[in-house]
Amino acid sequence: MDTLVIQGNKTLKGEVSISGAKNAALPILAASILASGESSFTGIPYLRDVVTMGRLLSTMGCKFDYADGTAVIDSASINHFEAPYELVKTMRASVLALGPLVARYGKARVSLPGGCAIGARPINLHLMGLEKMGAKIKLEGGYVIAKANVLRGASLFFDTVTVTGTENLMMAAALARGTTVLENAAREPEVVDLANCLISMGARIKGAGESVIEIEGVDTLRPAKRYRVIPDRIEAGTFMAIAGICGSDLLLKNCRSDHLDAVIMKLKDTGVSFKDTKKGLRVRGHGRPVSADLKTIPYPGFPTDMQAQFMAMMTVAKGTSVIKETVFENRYMHVAELKRMGADISIEGGAAAIRGVEQLKGAPVMATDLRASASLVVAALCAKGETRISRIYHLDRGYEKMDEKLRQLGADIYRLPDKS
Ligand code: EPZ
Repeated sequence: MDTLVIQGNKTLKGEVSISGAKNAALPILAASILASGESSFTGIPYLRDVVTMGRLLSTMGCKFDYADGTAVIDSASINHFEAPYELVKTMRASVLALGPLVARYGKARVSLPGGCAIGARPINLHLMGLEKMGAKIKLEGGYVIAKANVLRGASLFFDTVTVTGTENLMMAAALARGTTVLENAAREPEVVDLANCLISMGARIKGAGESVIEIEGVDTLRPAKRYRVIPDRIEAGTFMAIAGICGSDLLLKNCRSDHLDAVIMKLKDTGVSFKDTKKGLRVRGHGRPVSADLKTIPYPGFPTDMQAQFMAMMTVAKGTSVIKETVFENRYMHVAELKRMGADISIEGGAAAIRGVEQLKGAPVMATDLRASASLVVAALCAKGETRISRIYHLDRGYEKMDEKLRQLGADIYRLPDKS
């Protein structure tokens, strides 16, 4: 397991290009199951999770090729309708194969994802929706076994906003008989990107990005042709937090600032400045950030996937910040590691109180999940001295060439390959 070694306390400067969005690429790659033939997608980031999704599609019998940001998937000869535990346990987004397999083949055997570092993460709402559309669902030996002679359109209400639940059921509804209405649907840009990709394949979808999405089923879909996924708003937000904590002047290229309203507004409260330019979005930190309180909520609110990175920034802010994570029940795994670097944080009643300190100090720390590892990178870049972040495979799941991009901005960072 690789380790990242960072000598912090440097002012960074320069341009960084934002990669394609992991959380758009994963459902969109799964959507290729819905149409027989060769689909192609561009702007696909080279990430561990994308490789895992490719392996999953290949085990089903798809032909999966990836080079330089382009993925080509031939789903004409799918002959295996399963997402095995070995793959699902490394990437929960494998559950996105469920809706497409049931919609196209009337059957699927998908391992229950199990919990992860940030929470129990059930998929009951995915299964509720498929059952209401006519699927028979059984749970056996840690697997979901779904069967459906035909899926019929239904009116579904999500009592909790679920991103992949909305995506799974949108894909299932695209080939169902009749019309499906998803109420209290997730509004994330990645949901909209999936809808736009499905529409390019012939799906009939209205309202993506709103709380009510209507999908009129069609008999067949055609393969996607060089559909380009949106840029990763969480990677962009992570670089904004880096600019804020290091008092740096960064130019973010290929950044969709319109996907980041809540993040930009909150960072402005801490003293970070933004300027749209012809070449991209200029983001500048100005000395120590000012403390600000935060509550994470579903889009268009402040994203839970940016909470850990924002907390890292607040560890050196002037004043005390209170952060409330409302989407996941255990998304504070980064707190203990940040405290090893001298942060002053306490968890009280499900909220984190962060008392800003003058300076963090480098220390050996351990990544526990994807965004926790990002928060440790943010903290290490401004800490005095050396920080070693172990288990950096967590970071590689969701950030393309992060160490390379940071080196180009002037960071003193290198990757120590695992000796074993
Ligand atoms: C997606 O996960 C993202 N992953 C997550 O990003 C992101 O944190 C999350 O949405 C919230 O924005 C992908 O898109 C691949 P949810 P997802 O279903 O869909 C509860 C990252 O860092 N829930 O929106 O799994 C659930 O427990 C990852 O890139 C149910 O109760 O999240 C949670 O409390 C981490 N029943 C809340 O809903 C269900 O059937 C939101 O979860 C489904 C969800």
